[in-house]
Formats: sequence, C-alpha cells, structure tokens
Amino acid sequence: MPNYRSLGILPPKRHIHLEANGDSFLGENMYYEHLITTCGFDRAYSILYHKRPPTRNTKIERVGTTKIEEAPDVPLQHLHLKSGELGRGGDPISGRIPMMFNDDLVCWRCRPEKEQTELYRNGAADEVIFIQHGSGYFDTLFGKLPYQRGDYVIMPRTTTYRMVSDDIDREDHMILETFSSVRIPERYQNADGQMYLGVPYYERDFHGPTELNTVDEEVETTILIKDHERWTRVTMPHHPFDVVGWDGFSYPYTFNAWDFEPLTGTTHLPPPFQQTFEARGFVICTFAPRHLDHHPKAIKVPYVHSNVEADEVLFYVDGEFGSRKGVDLGSFTLHPGGIPHGPHPGTIMKSMDMAKTEEMAVMFDTDRKLYLTPQALELNDPHYPLSWMEEAQTV
Ligand SMILES: [Fe+2]
Repeated sequence: MPNYRSLGILPPKRHIHLEANGDSFLGENMYYEHLITTCGFDRAYSILYHKRPPTRNTKIERVGTTKIEEAPDVPLQHLHLKSGELGRGGDPISGRIPMMFNDDLVCWRCRPEKEQTELYRNGAADEVIFIQHGSGYFDTLFGKLPYQRGDYVIMPRTTTYRMVSDDIDREDHMILETFSSVRIPERYQNADGQMYLGVPYYERDFHGPTELNTVDEEVETTILIKDHERWTRVTMPHHPFDVVGWDGFSYPYTFNAWDFEPLTGTTHLPPPFQQTFEARGFVICTFAPRHLDHHPKAIKVPYVHSNVEADEVLFYVDGEFGSRKGVDLGSFTLHPGGIPHGPHPGTIMKSMDMAKTEEMAVMFDTDRKLYLTPQALELNDPHYPLSWMEEAQTV
C-alpha cells in the first residue's frame, strides 16, 4: 500500500468522539466513525468520519446478474484480441465487457458512450482501472481523485465512486477486477515501510484524493453495488459522501505508467524488473519507454521463452512494440503457459541498431489458467497464432 494520508478533520485519537459542534445529526452531537479494512483486520485500513451513520438504507433491490462465460472450443494457442476496435456502449460501469478471467481476476475493456450518473461500489473486489485514453476525476467517498491518460487507478473494494470525465467520447479503459488486494511489491519497501532507493518509483509518484467533496444533504441517493456476479441497488436517505475527515493507508490512488523508471542492462532484463503491482495469483508489470541493452552484440528484443506456470497478457498502450508486428494499440495478446512465444521474425535484426524504445505496454502474468469470454473471441485475430510462420516467409 502507499503511505499514510489524511484529509479533513480528525479527533486526536481513534475510536473517540469527534465533536460535531452543533453540526449534529440524530441529536448525538458527534460524527460517525467508519472503519474500512483489508484482509479482515490484519492489513491496511482507514477510518472515516461521517455526518450521518453510513448504515442508513431505505430500500434494497436485486437488480441483476452478470454471468461470465467461457468461450467454447478454444485450443491452446496464442491470441491477439483487437479490443481497440470494440464499439462504444454504456457508461464507465455498465459499458464494461469481460475479456478473460480466472479465480483471481476478471479483465474487462470499456469504451463508454455516456456519463456515469449513478454511484457505484464494488463490494467484493479491488479494481485496477487503467486509463488508455481519458481524463477527469473520480468523485469518491474519500474525496476527489484526478486521473489522466496512462494512470493506473487503484480502487480498493467498498469504495463508492463515480467517474466524472472531461470528455466521455475519449474514455477508453482496461480494468482488472481483482479478488485480493492490489499491493506494491513487498521487496520494494524497506523495513521502515519506505520504498527503497533504486526501485522503479517512490512515494511522490503515488497520488491520493486531493480534496474532500463533503455533501451534506438529506436527499435520496442510490448506489449500484456489485459483488461478484450479483448486482444490488441500495437507496440511502442521504448522500453517502458526507465525510468530514479520514486517515489511514487504504484509499483510492493513482500511479502513472509514464512515471515508471525502467532499468536497462548490458543484455536483456526479464519482466520482474518491470513489476509494478502484485496481488494473489498475478503480477502487473509496466513496459515503459527506455534505453535498450548496450552490449555491442545484445539482442534487444526478448528471447523466445516458454512461460511455464504463467499465462502472460500484454495490453498495448502506446508506441510501436519492438518484438511484435501487426499488433494494434488497444489490443491484447495472450501467450498462455505450455507453449513457447518470442519475437516475430525480422524484429531481432531490426532492433540491433536501436538505442531506445518508446513502447508502452501493461502486462499481467497469472499463476492460474485464463479463460477467454465469447465477447473476447469476437475480437480475435485468427491469423495471429500462425503469424511467426507467415512473417518468416516474407522477411
Ligand atoms: Fe513473454
């Protein structure tokens, strides 16, 4: 988790009265403490103070189910999913289309066509919302969180939010819904909880909510809540963003992929050097613009490798990716465990004279097998699994 933050007013100790000074509700003359934890009570937590009890509901309705299905009859093969061609639809929540999944995560793409008007909360999973295109801010329980292109937006589970876009027609997202907490790798942090010198980012690269957006209104407000496949709408008699202060280590934050500081060796360094986040069953890596390997005979694109015990997904963000041909921005490639993959023919020689790459890609490597959805299969490039052979004949 990133470091300690606080906004607004707080009592001098936890679990004591925060006096409302006449700004009281229910005649109790105090604000209402609300603890939000991770891993039961064992890991990062925050304490928020509300003007009204956050437990007040007037109506609870079941509003649907999202079944995530497996596409039938997909052989073990490499895949290129042209998700940049996905049509626009829905809002930043309802417009999410599932691409692939396993027991640890669901990967979605979203190219919305209309603004999010209703508050939303994921009650069962953290969300990593990668901003392929777009800018604006998230209106959250913890305050206003600005975002821009290239941001990883980490939204801890149970954070109520609404995306407020500068221009909804430009928004384009890749979302990882993760069933364990998303964290900064422990090996990046010293025994005092500070990031080591020499790791690819540090505390100033992480941005939390900038200001509270306290709403003090007795106005019926609905929240759409997702927990796994189930959708529920709760109605509160007041606006839930009535927080006057909070502190702690668990809150929504952003990290921009272009702030990742890549390392280069004399020869190729493997993906653990690009690791950015970790969670149960997978890691997230950032392939950011960087100088290339500088041994005079260095092969500057990754060697062929069999990624045993991992399914490897790349999401292409910007620039031209040195080891691939014919892969579009906004696409995924999925290279499953059990079969080798590597640079397309011609890319090794092409890279020999290059000193730098401007490519930007996000990778997630999963311990467990990923299953493709029917929606993803519709975006599949059928030529990709054979493209090494086809390319070889023309180079
Ligand atoms: Fe790979």
